[in-house]
Amino acid sequence: MEQANRTDALPHLPASDRFIPGRPKTPEFPAPTGETTPPLEKILGESPAIQQVRRLIAQICRVDVPVLIRGEPGTGKDLVAAAIHYAGGRAGRPFIKFNPAGAPEPPIEGELFGREKGVLPDAPGRRIGRIEAAHGGSLLLDEPGQFSPALQVKLLRAIQDRQFERLGGARVRQADVRFLVATRYDLSAAVAAGAFREDLYYRLSVLPIVLPPLRDRREDILPLVEHFARRFALRGGHPFRRITAAAVDRLMAHPWPGNVRELETVIERALLAADEGTIGPEHLPAALAAHDDRLPLPGSLEARVAELEREMIAHALGRSGGNVRAAARELGITPRIARYKISKLGIDPALFHRRRPA
Ligand SMILES: Nc1ncnc2c1ncn2[C@@H]1O[C@H](COP(=O)(O)OP(=O)(O)O)[C@@H](O)[C@H]1O
Ligand SMILES: [Mg+2]
Repeated sequence: MEQANRTDALPHLPASDRFIPGRPKTPEFPAPTGETTPPLEKILGESPAIQQVRRLIAQICRVDVPVLIRGEPGTGKDLVAAAIHYAGGRAGRPFIKFNPAGAPEPPIEGELFGREKGVLPDAPGRRIGRIEAAHGGSLLLDEPGQFSPALQVKLLRAIQDRQFERLGGARVRQADVRFLVATRYDLSAAVAAGAFREDLYYRLSVLPIVLPPLRDRREDILPLVEHFARRFALRGGHPFRRITAAAVDRLMAHPWPGNVRELETVIERALLAADEGTIGPEHLPAALAAHDDRLPLPGSLEARVAELEREMIAHALGRSGGNVRAAARELGITPRIARYKISKLGIDPALFHRRRPA
């Protein structure tokens, strides 16, 4: 298999997860080069939760205050942060990510605020921090819940008074940065436990965005599958034609502990393994083996009915090879109603075509 092509074309370790000491870089927005999709439209999904997130971002990006983005790993926190930055007034300025991920504290402070020459014996040079690198733009900070009390004070000052000093430096510097904070934890619980400063928490949580786990918005699964399959097909040269109803079943039943990131990887692997671009259950990892005991679907009656409708329609389309008329006949509804539901539920019949449409 084309391993080399695959890794080059499909970097799925997000830049935020790579902690690279050295010069701060400006990681680019995760988009293929030359793509011009507006930032908000990169956040796919028609679940009420995701629609709400897009609406929120459209409002939030017009004001210049910190945003707290909460969600399990892989739910799209980086994507949302990027959308806020690139849809807002700071778009032409740097978007910098900082994920300290367990690094020892003095280097963290130096990375964030910069350091003067000779402060750290292991890294004697002078170095600007991420806040300076993000000057005029936005800084995405991952998991500040692990910061020491001393560092929390400094962060609060940078956010509130827009002031900071480099490690070992005396000069007070201006922090012209919009802070975007991503966390998987409930920081208010950390406040209650005395591990996180209450004033910092209130500063950060003026505008909270919560990204629900994928298992709580299953209607987003199929649109995301289609998106990833088409994107990998374009980038990796592996054709994508359709996905079988049995495979859809497994995807819909899986609890997705790794959320959208896990789905992305599963689809990529499936497409590499699939013959002639048809993804079947045999191309999915064993962890997605058929369950009889489905997880109870959360949500309203309406959401669960929509779920069932989507599943039945997807099955019928799978059997009819994407033929809406035949699927409608099988379901005992008119083609007009079938088309209406298909568009309302965000199903793409082309996904089920036996041959790629010309
Ligand atoms: N709603 C979405 N629409 C399209 N792609 C998404 C969506 N949510 C997440 N992704 C993709 O899933 C992967 C993980 O998202 P990321 O933002 O890095 O998650 P987090 O920062 O919460 O761990 C990325 O490749 C991202 O582009
Ligand atoms: Mg992230």
